[in-house]
Amino acid sequence: MKEINLTTKIAVYLLEECSEVEKKLIESAKSATTKAYAPYSQFRVGAAVLLENGEIIAGNNQENAAYPSGLCAERTTLFFANASFPDQKVRAIAIAAWHDGKFTHDVITPCGACRQVLLEAENRFHSPVKILMYSEEGIYVVPAVRDLLPLSFGDEMLKR
Ligand code: THU
Repeated sequence: MKEINLTTKIAVYLLEECSEVEKKLIESAKSATTKAYAPYSQFRVGAAVLLENGEIIAGNNQENAAYPSGLCAERTTLFFANASFPDQKVRAIAIAAWHDGKFTHDVITPCGACRQVLLEAENRFHSPVKILMYSEEGIYVVPAVRDLLPLSFGDEMLKR
C-alpha cells in the first residue's frame, strides 16, 4: 500500500501586511456585502475580482425564493468579470461576509461549486488565481485555486 499526502499551505495575514492592491480588493469585497441580496439567509457575502489590467469587479450573493436558483458571491462576481472582460486574466479574488451586524469573526471559504468555477478561471488563462479570505481576525491567503481543490477535475482530464 502506498500513501499520498496532500497538504495545503495557508498564509494568514493582518490587513496591514497586505499590499495596497490587496487592501483595495479586500475593501471592495467588504463593501459589496452591503449590496448583497440575501433576504433568506441574512448572510451577506461580498467578493471582488482583480483582473490583469488592474480592474476590480465586485459582486455579492443573489438569493432566490427557490433557494437553489440563487448564486454565491464568488460565482456572481467571477461570471460578471469574465463576461465583461473575457480576455483579462483573473489575478485574485477576495471574499468577505457580513452576518448578525458584523463581519464574520472567522474566514468564510468558497463552497465546492465556487471552487470548481474559480478553477476554470485559473485553467482558462493558464495563470493562478490568488484567494484572499477576509475575517476580522486575519486574512487567509492561498496562492492558487488548486490549493483549495486538490484532486480537482479540470480540462486536462478531458484529454485522458
Ligand atoms: N454563500 C456565498 O455567497 N459564498 C460562499 O462562499 C458561501 C455561501 C452564500 C450562499 C447563500 O446566499 C448564503 O451565502 C448562505 O449560504
